Amino acid sequence: MMDLLKFLTCGSVDDGKSTLIGHMLYDAKLLYTDQKRALELDSRVKGRNGSLDYSLLLDGLMAEREQGITIDVAYRYFSTDARSFIVADAPGHEEYTRNMAVGASFADLAVILVDVSRGVQRQTRRHIRICNLMGIRHFVFAINKMDLVQYNKKYFDEVVDEIGRIITGFQVESSCSIPVSATEGDNITDPSQRMGWYQGKPLLAYLEQVDVSAGQKDEAGFVMPVQRVCRPHSDYRGFQGQIETGRVSVSSEITVLPTGEKARVKGIYQGDTAVEEAGAGAPVSIALDREVDVSRGCVLVSDFKGMVSDMFSARLLWMDDEPLVPGKNYLVKLGTKTTPGIVMSVKYKIDINDGTHVPADVIYKNEIADCQISLSEKVVMDKFDRCKVMGEFILTDRVTNMTSACGVIKHDLRRSDNLVWQETDVTRQMRAAQKGQEPRTLWFTGLSGSGKSALANALEKRLLALGKHTMLLDGDNVRMGLCRNLGFTQQDRIENIRRVAEVSKLMNDAGLIVLTAFISPYRQDRENAREIIGDGFVEIYVSTPLEVCEQRDVKGLYAKARRGEIPNFTGISSAYEPPVKPDIQVDTSACTLEEAVDQIIQHLGID
Ligand code: ADX
Repeated sequence: MMDLLKFLTCGSVDDGKSTLIGHMLYDAKLLYTDQKRALELDSRVKGRNGSLDYSLLLDGLMAEREQGITIDVAYRYFSTDARSFIVADAPGHEEYTRNMAVGASFADLAVILVDVSRGVQRQTRRHIRICNLMGIRHFVFAINKMDLVQYNKKYFDEVVDEIGRIITGFQVESSCSIPVSATEGDNITDPSQRMGWYQGKPLLAYLEQVDVSAGQKDEAGFVMPVQRVCRPHSDYRGFQGQIETGRVSVSSEITVLPTGEKARVKGIYQGDTAVEEAGAGAPVSIALDREVDVSRGCVLVSDFKGMVSDMFSARLLWMDDEPLVPGKNYLVKLGTKTTPGIVMSVKYKIDINDGTHVPADVIYKNEIADCQISLSEKVVMDKFDRCKVMGEFILTDRVTNMTSACGVIKHDLRRSDNLVWQETDVTRQMRAAQKGQEPRTLWFTGLSGSGKSALANALEKRLLALGKHTMLLDGDNVRMGLCRNLGFTQQDRIENIRRVAEVSKLMNDAGLIVLTAFISPYRQDRENAREIIGDGFVEIYVSTPLEVCEQRDVKGLYAKARRGEIPNFTGISSAYEPPVKPDIQVDTSACTLEEAVDQIIQHLGID
């Protein structure tokens, strides 16, 4: 099979990326006749003075052509006699950082365009940093628009010096700078006659021979994340996936992670063909010699140096319009496994220009930060530097499903490993049985002044009268003690609700019926509370309308908020997300407290 090079082109707006690749395909006669003809026709309309506009070839999307910019990742496949290529043409401007990160995650090498007439830009550093973050270790700097500086070596040397200074701070296995003119075709496929001073290879020739295997370490061992368990008939159970690193052979011993079960390989199939062994890159189906518990998300390994952990430190590229808020719950996709998780804390963000660490709590779109992430269960992972596929992950927003960030694992946090859950002889069930009740958390949510506290109070009195053992956690009270260090920013409210949920769970373990009265304005936080508390969580939406709450204004806070004296006041200057399907809904403006209590007691089936 012919050797394949996957590379990415990046450059700032107008650096001429599309033109460069277009010219390469055209000169190397890698176009079909109809593509060539379309280019000639298009160029007559849009090109410069009737000469060919090679960028038109690469602009894969109509919208790009219309706006004159590249907005998505356009992939092109081509081959020369020496090698096959896939090139990802990613947009350069900051807004489309996510597209560049996607392109970079697939590539082995980056061709970074620098406009010699403008010199190294802020964007250039940013592109190197993103590529490096996504694991690219091989770089080509195409110093473009040499025609604009009369092919003068002096300007090229200045840019090369600057690049040399920048890349010392990165993990780079190979780097090469080539003076080119994408529009004129200098040093693209043929050595330029106008730059005799340049002794190196033209771009295409360089790409044909560059060795990108250097730096690809084999120390990760054999790793195959299981994508699918296939059971065509009762005698065969195969685990399908792509071998990411290392090799596997029939009768070798492998370990299934996260369980740690061991088994021997009984058969390896590539398609329908049984093979004795297979290595990195091969899609295979592996049968084992004994029954083991394997499902999608498990990883088959041998000589694996990674870990099974639920906490790690990572470097993130934030891509969401909304800033990163520590404590918020995301879905973390790592290998073939997707798990809920939170960014526990941001350590610092990284200055795009000089790489320095800048203290930060909140991270905005297109910023890079180091942070600590906690998952809801232990998963298989490795350091990105050792095993790319087990060390890279994406965070998706649980509500919008959008990719919020991509990141790489720096190391696991052994903190969680040093803790061992202690079983107690007296169990939750025994404590509850002694009290003759079923523990629950009755979670009241609603605007300030909606009547949560009054209702929870009345309900607790009724439960007490019924002989139940209860505890009421009220927002204002808890904020004077356990949560006195928290305010009303989104981040603080997330932490407030997390603490209350953990405390409620402990009280449920103690056998109590817990009533909580917190605004808890965010849907996702209430879902987290439901996850933490588990069985017995009941969401009660006190849906009294804002106008009524504001009219009541028991504490005088709405008036203050309207005067601008209280920032982030729920319902006025901060959002309240009503439950979509609450277990119980009560409007205290439409019934008496006693009627509302009756409604809840009836729903709960308590007597
Ligand atoms: S929550 O949003 O984190 O759930 P919580 O229920 O603990 O809020 O606290 C709400 C109480 O704090 C309100 O009833 C009100 O008395 C007081 N408060 C002070 N500032 C604010 C604010 N900016 N937004 C909402 N409530 C506030």
